[in-house]
Amino acid sequence: MRRKMVAGNWKMNGTRTSVAELISSLKREELPSGVDVAVFPSSLHIAQVVGELEGSAISVGAQDCAEECGFGAFTGEESSAQLLDAGCTWVLVGHSERRLLLGEGDEVVSRKFSAAQASGLRPILCVGETFDERQAGRTLEVVSRQISCVLDVVGVAAFEFAVVAYEPVWAIGSGLSATPGQAQRVHAAIRGVVARRDPAIAEGLRILYGGSVKAENAAELFSQVDVDGGLIGGASLNANDFSAICRAAGN
Ligand code: PGA
Repeated sequence: MRRKMVAGNWKMNGTRTSVAELISSLKREELPSGVDVAVFPSSLHIAQVVGELEGSAISVGAQDCAEECGFGAFTGEESSAQLLDAGCTWVLVGHSERRLLLGEGDEVVSRKFSAAQASGLRPILCVGETFDERQAGRTLEVVSRQISCVLDVVGVAAFEFAVVAYEPVWAIGSGLSATPGQAQRVHAAIRGVVARRDPAIAEGLRILYGGSVKAENAAELFSQVDVDGGLIGGASLNANDFSAICRAAGN
C-alpha cells in the first residue's frame, strides 16, 4: 500500500508575516495521520517555515535546486546540500513553470534530480503536457519522454525515494482540473514506464496529481488507483482549503 502524500507548492508567494500566519493556521488544522503532508515555501522562507513547524509532522521542501550538488561559484543558485542543511526533506524538479518560463529542458531537470538525490534530498519530479500537446494526442508520449530522460540519467533505483507529480500544464492555475479518468490514465502510463525498468519500484512509486486540485474535487481524484495524492498550488495558500485536501487524501 502506497502512503498518500499532499504537497503544497506556495510558488513565489508570501511575506514573513503572511507565512507565519499560514503556518500557525495550518498547525491549528486537523491533519490525517496516514498522509504525508509537505509544504514548499519560497527559499527565502524555508528557514522560517522549518523553525515554525518544529515538532509538527509537516515536512518542508524547496521549489527548485541547482544542477550542482555541493558548493561553489554559482551566483544566485541554491544547492541541494544547502537545502538539506536548511531543513528541507524534498525538492520539486521540473515544475512546468520552470520548464516553460525558464526554459529548463529534460537534461537540466535530470541533472537537478541527480543532484538532489546525491545530496539526500528527495526529488518530486514534475511532468505534464501542454494544451496543444494534449489536443494533438501526444500526452502519453510527452510524459513518457520526460520520465524516461530522467530514468536514463539517474537509473531506476533512484526512484525508490522519489515521487512523481503529473501536472497537465493546461490544468495549472486554470481552474480546469483533469477529470479523475484523465488523471488515472496518465498515472497508469507513468507507472508503466517505470515498471518496464523495475516492477517493484514502480509499484511503490507515489504519483501525485497536480492542477487545480480543490477541496471539492480532491476526494474523487485521490480515489483513482494510481493517484497517490496531490501537488497543490493555489489552494495550498489557504490553511482551511489545504487541510481539507489533506483530509480527502486520508479517507
Ligand atoms: P494549482 O497549481 O493547484 O494552482 O493549479 C499546481 C502546481 O502548479 O503545482
